[in-house]
Amino acid sequence: MFTEIDYSIFDFAVSLTEAVDLVSSDLNDHHKKVCYISYMIAKEMALTDNEIRDIALGAILHDIGAFTCEEKLKIISPSMAFHDDINNQHQYMGYKLLRDFQPFSKAATLIKYHHARFDKSANEIPIGSYIIHLADRISILLDKRREVLGQIPEIMNAIEKRKAIFHPDTLDALRQIMKVEYFWIEACSLPVTVILSERIRFPRQIVDVETIRSLAKLISQVIDFRSRFTATHSSGVAAVALELAKILEFSERECKFIEIAGYLHDIGKLAISDDILEKNGTLNVEEFNEMRKHTYYTYAVLSKIKGFEQVATWAAYHHERLDGNGYPFHVKGANFTKLSRLVAVADIVTAITEDRPYRRGMSAEKATEILSNMVTSGGIDEGIVAVVKENFQHINGVRIKAQQDAQQKYNAFYDSEQDCGERYLSR
Ligand SMILES: [Fe+2]
Ligand SMILES: [Fe+2]
Ligand SMILES: [Fe+2]
Repeated sequence: MFTEIDYSIFDFAVSLTEAVDLVSSDLNDHHKKVCYISYMIAKEMALTDNEIRDIALGAILHDIGAFTCEEKLKIISPSMAFHDDINNQHQYMGYKLLRDFQPFSKAATLIKYHHARFDKSANEIPIGSYIIHLADRISILLDKRREVLGQIPEIMNAIEKRKAIFHPDTLDALRQIMKVEYFWIEACSLPVTVILSERIRFPRQIVDVETIRSLAKLISQVIDFRSRFTATHSSGVAAVALELAKILEFSERECKFIEIAGYLHDIGKLAISDDILEKNGTLNVEEFNEMRKHTYYTYAVLSKIKGFEQVATWAAYHHERLDGNGYPFHVKGANFTKLSRLVAVADIVTAITEDRPYRRGMSAEKATEILSNMVTSGGIDEGIVAVVKENFQHINGVRIKAQQDAQQKYNAFYDSEQDCGERYLSR
């Protein structure tokens, strides 16, 4: 039975970053640039291959803890390049998000201190954090509207003027690599991740399904935690989809991947602006149109991952309908497979039964009535809805438990903890 995917963890991280940066074209591949520059500095410093790989992972994900578009744009704005008021939460949020996922745990620590100023006595700050810090500042100073080579003197001047805040070894490395033009040309070239994949040579390892599940769960937090209205939604959909697939006796592998599809079905919401996600009230036509695009983006992100072609359709078709009146692909018939229909039903079941801050979830009677009406109008799968009705209490119980667990994680995530590493920011 095929339960593994031959993939490099770096490629997953790149896909995640691409999804997170979809929300604004102004983000301008910031993560990729920082990753490339960090790699070049680390290489010049002759760090080991393993250290370089962790630095590349940390760099490609370094601002993932900035959840809102406003925050993301603020921290990469050139006017903030050497501002003392740099947001000191996003690095700690990123750390908390990634630290428990083993393949990212070292990268998480690098992220925690990626705005730390150089401090000889702070032994807990890894050199990788100092490297990402310097790379981050260079990336922000690079003006994409202007030719790159002409910018070298002013960027180097700006860095040298503030040299006390950077680790001296990272500066020595930069002073070497800044002399070669190709460093600057590559930093601003688009296929920078292709360049990185080739040079860093992340081992293509067999990633087992458990690891992918943990990663999908982590990503569901990046998706859901942006809005308190839906802070546990993906966990609910994953749990309901898994339970339905088990009852319908899908194979073990299909059950595992359908749960993953549930966690990721709204990944395209990362491309939707905060104003729309957080709007407390009905969306107007324009906002609703924007919102409707999220399933397309889910498809765009997931279908690029090798081995995820099926998961991409299971996840992305959750607003498709049997009669072809869904969106955005209007799939129907055999193209709208049973497992895609199942995620669509799991999404509806979760959406109508979950409590939201502004309303209670529906009762069993009301929820089953709505589902039956949708079957009658030709929208959703009759067989799957029959399973929901027969097992309503059980499935709803599984959903509630999963969403309670997710709620606890959400609360813990926003609990203020003392050590944000902030003492290294303002000296
Ligand atoms: Fe940052
Ligand atoms: Fe950054
Ligand atoms: Fe959705």
